[in-house]
Amino acid sequence: MIYLDNAATTYPKPRSVHNAVMRAMNNYGANPGRSGHSMSMASALEIYKCRETAAEMFNAPGAECVVFTLNCTHATNMVLKGLLKPGDHVVTSCLEHNAIMRPLKKLEEFGIKHTVAEVYPCDNDKTVDSFRKCITSKTTLIACTCASNVWGIRLPIERIAALAKVYGIMMMVDAAQGAGVIPIDVTESKIDYLCLAGHKGLYGPMGTGMLITSRADKLNTIIEGGTGTNSLSFYQPSDMPEKLESGTPNVMGICGLGAGMEFVKQRGIKNISKHESQLINYLYERLRKIKNVELYMPKPDEKYFAPLLSFNIKDKDSESVSNILNKNGIQVRAGLHCAPAAHKFCGTLEKGAVRVCPSAFTTRKEIDRLVSIVKKI
Ligand code: ALA
Repeated sequence: MIYLDNAATTYPKPRSVHNAVMRAMNNYGANPGRSGHSMSMASALEIYKCRETAAEMFNAPGAECVVFTLNCTHATNMVLKGLLKPGDHVVTSCLEHNAIMRPLKKLEEFGIKHTVAEVYPCDNDKTVDSFRKCITSKTTLIACTCASNVWGIRLPIERIAALAKVYGIMMMVDAAQGAGVIPIDVTESKIDYLCLAGHKGLYGPMGTGMLITSRADKLNTIIEGGTGTNSLSFYQPSDMPEKLESGTPNVMGICGLGAGMEFVKQRGIKNISKHESQLINYLYERLRKIKNVELYMPKPDEKYFAPLLSFNIKDKDSESVSNILNKNGIQVRAGLHCAPAAHKFCGTLEKGAVRVCPSAFTTRKEIDRLVSIVKKI
């Protein structure tokens, strides 16, 4: 089997991730932070180490800034619904996943409006300018992706965050697709809310995600409950990370995510990105020569694109292409990738696209096999 659906979830996971999950199952099976007995304390310590790993990777001021969530969507909802108030205005981009678009649509019911900024691939000046033009006196937040999960187009998040600061606006980044291949420094870049998926480029198990923030003071909670701290009070604590983490956490998943982040750290984000970008460039060159293959983006320069590529075959529905690939042992994702806005951007709303995304483990031989089947189709 050739797995090229790593933008949805990376597979396989590093052996160290399997081991960390098993170790947690065997040794850290007690509820962290809920009891004073040894296994509960050991479990809490492991979770804390994972927080520290994440804080270091994204240069958060401290481990308490790392909130473990179910996934990136959970994190985007916590920010959008916890921060925005009736009358507020949000600027977002035309490439957003439904993890941003659907909460924003829901918030319209509460008098929170948003404007969609155009993105100009490979022209960051124009993209930043486009965001600037959407800002109004009511804008309180810019919320955008760091890289499109459909086209790989990178947004200049550092420059957009700097723009937000000039206007006194908060900045939220959906880094589901970029984390692990694009270095992100929340402190240096002044990103107020960084939303992350654990199961993609960070190589953690599915059902893990994070919100990294030092501006939790601005967030209202959308979930309240037991935190294992200050239990006498019926009110949610304001301390971090407890404020935003209620209920028993996914200890096994978080330990796996910690090991995934260690794997990324050891290989190096730059090396992983280089490996995957070379494969995508190779794929691009080979697909370009096949008659009837439709490519929508220019040659994917690492500076402007995260390593993934979507294409179509003329007169063929993307799902039927993916089905043929699947029958030949190649797994890719076709259709709309939960991002209709991004498909509208390239005029592929009707037929979707076939998306190929390598991982740190993908080989050139696997790309060759994909190309040979595409040729046949
Ligand atoms: N958002 C994920 C994807 O792009 C699931 O496939």
